[in-house]
This record gives sequence, structure tokens and C-alpha cells, in this order.
Amino acid sequence: MSSAGRVGILISGRGSNMLALLDAMGRGQISAEPAVVLSDRPAAAGLALAQAQGVPTAVVDTREVKPRAAHEQRVVDRLREHRVDLVCLAGYMRLLTPRMIGAFPDRILNIHPSLLPAFPGLHAQRQALAHGVKLSGCTVHLVDEECDHGPIVAQASVPVLEHDTEESLSARILEQEHRIYPEAVALYFGRGLHVEGRRVLAGPGC
Ligand code: GRF
Repeated sequence: MSSAGRVGILISGRGSNMLALLDAMGRGQISAEPAVVLSDRPAAAGLALAQAQGVPTAVVDTREVKPRAAHEQRVVDRLREHRVDLVCLAGYMRLLTPRMIGAFPDRILNIHPSLLPAFPGLHAQRQALAHGVKLSGCTVHLVDEECDHGPIVAQASVPVLEHDTEESLSARILEQEHRIYPEAVALYFGRGLHVEGRRVLAGPGC
């Protein structure tokens, strides 16, 4: 039996970060294997992309599994069934409660399209443009009970250009998302992550 780490990826939509993680596992950049791609929306385009790569998928439909606590418990159950070590949120459009965070303590990562703590929440790129910042970027962080708030694992910055639209800025940031999310997950399974207060330090490795 393989002893490699097992990653569960949670999506709600197109799944481009999911693909970046699957690619990185496939080429050995991340010493782990994909355990399951789970969506809360049956129509998420990323599901078909995962299936095309032979990755197991699951759907816990928010419209069918209610209330919120029951939905989240079902997600936790599915992740446990697939023996997931690390949960990667990749465009998963739901806030997690203590139920899920407690089930995977310091083992849930998220990617957000801004330099946190600036511009948490929805439409981060639109918020950055409206604020007039000259630099934006993306952040990989551990998930805690507040939205886009947990300790920061990795960040990358990109310039905001004079004629940027939400689309052009989002595309520039997304390129960096696809780079730093696999790097952060590789670090998790490589040297390991050590959390000291709000600081995340890479461990000594094996
Ligand atoms: C990304 O911009 C990510 O930072 C945010 O949601 C978007 C998901 O895009 N959390 P994708 O589904 O990975 O393409």
C-alpha cells in the first residue's frame, strides 16, 4: 500500500487551481497523491476535468444536503472515507465552521486572490482595483474560522497596471496562484509546516 500523503481538493467551479495541484502531484513536485476532488455544486466544471485524469470525485450538493451543519458533516465524512491527510480549498465557495476545521486541524489550505490581509472575501481583484493599490497578488493560508484569515504560508505579488480591468488583473494573479499553491503544498509534504502564532515556518524536513 502506498504511504504517500493524500490530498482532498474542494471546488465549486472551474477548477484551474485544482488542475495545477493535480499536475504538480502527477509530475512529482508534490510528494502526495490526489485522494478525491469534492464539489458542493454538481455543475462545477472542475469535476469533469478531475474525472478525465482518473481522479475520484464526489458531490455533496448544497441544494440537497441541508442544513449547513449536515452538509459540512457529509463533506467531512467523504474526506475521511477517502483517507485525506490535507484538504486544499480551490475556489470552494463556502465558509468552514469549527466542525470541519476541528476535523482537520492545521490541515486545510486555501488560496485567495489578494495579498492578505488586504481584500478578504468576494471579488478581491475588484476590491484591489477600486482601492487603487499598485501591487496585488495572491495568498496561500491555513484556514481558520474567519474568512480568508488564517496564518499565511505563501504569497506572490503582481503589479496593478494603469489600464487593468478586473479580468486582466485576475488573469495576472491566477498565473501566480498556479505557481504558489503547488509550491505551498509541496512544502507541506516535504519539509512540513510549523505554526507559531500567526507565523508559518517550514520544518526541517526528513
Ligand atoms: C481563484 O481565484 C482562487 O484564488 C479563489 O477562487 C478562484 C478559483 O478559481 N479562491 P479556480 O476554480 O481555481 O479556477
